[in-house]
Amino acid sequence: MTATTTTPILINRRLEQLVVGRATRDGDGVKLTRVLTSDLQQRLDPFLMLDQFGSDDPKDYGGGFPDHPHRGFETVTYMIAGRMRHQDSAGHQGLLQNGGVQWMTAGKGVIHSEMPEQEAGVMEGFQLWLNLPAKDKMCEPGYRDIRSEEIPEVLTPQGVRVRVISGTCQGVSGAVKRATDAYPTDTLYLDIHFEQDAVFEQPLNPAYNAFVYTYRSKAEVVEAPEQSQSVALHRMGILRNEGQQVQLRAKAGTRVLLIAGQPLHEPIAQYGPFVMNTRAELMQAVEDFNNGLFTP
Ligand code: FE2
Repeated sequence: MTATTTTPILINRRLEQLVVGRATRDGDGVKLTRVLTSDLQQRLDPFLMLDQFGSDDPKDYGGGFPDHPHRGFETVTYMIAGRMRHQDSAGHQGLLQNGGVQWMTAGKGVIHSEMPEQEAGVMEGFQLWLNLPAKDKMCEPGYRDIRSEEIPEVLTPQGVRVRVISGTCQGVSGAVKRATDAYPTDTLYLDIHFEQDAVFEQPLNPAYNAFVYTYRSKAEVVEAPEQSQSVALHRMGILRNEGQQVQLRAKAGTRVLLIAGQPLHEPIAQYGPFVMNTRAELMQAVEDFNNGLFTP
């Protein structure tokens, strides 16, 4: 008898490019690594930026990010370790700490500060910038704090624990949709912890731009049964837009972010903390900010 199966065979997405982050400082001297830089904004549409920060030296983070504006997109901050206080001009305030997420929709404009609430110890995390479609860029600002215990987790039979920040993993929906639900989305944001040597699979729409980022140990993108490529510590691996799933293999202790989203296919115009579609809109953003229109 011949073994037969009706389970569809899924093709794995392959690794297109490995990216080494650029060391920089932002805010009041906060040391960080800019992993997703502006030259990758078209390729990784709708993602505009990914910063990684991690230090146990307060000189690297103590200054925080004092008041600054944003317009036209969303910021998603994922705190692995540490405590940061958020305050904004729309009246939102929150404390972001160990394992929690802050999902902020700048929309038509906010001024906010992100300040450390610790004088020692480790501060580690990520900030992702997620673009808004043209029709939603001027929406009302929104804000959500998601505590660590509110983030659903999946434990696969292979021993991989997945924190589902956004999107769906093995039938479990993430903690966040959109702060404003401005438009429906299934943007995927997974924090994948390999608790033993294992393989992890996640279906991905081939049209969605996707990348992985290794922040503990190293991972492999399995491209075919006998073929894989390594994504070393602190490297971003951009996945090709072919195939229906990503397959990751790693040893116990490895941690990887997997992020994927539907591209907007709209022009991107950025001037610092403003991301619009045209230069005229950027000039308007600067003028509105200078005229105090970001503060209610
Ligand atoms: Fe900010």
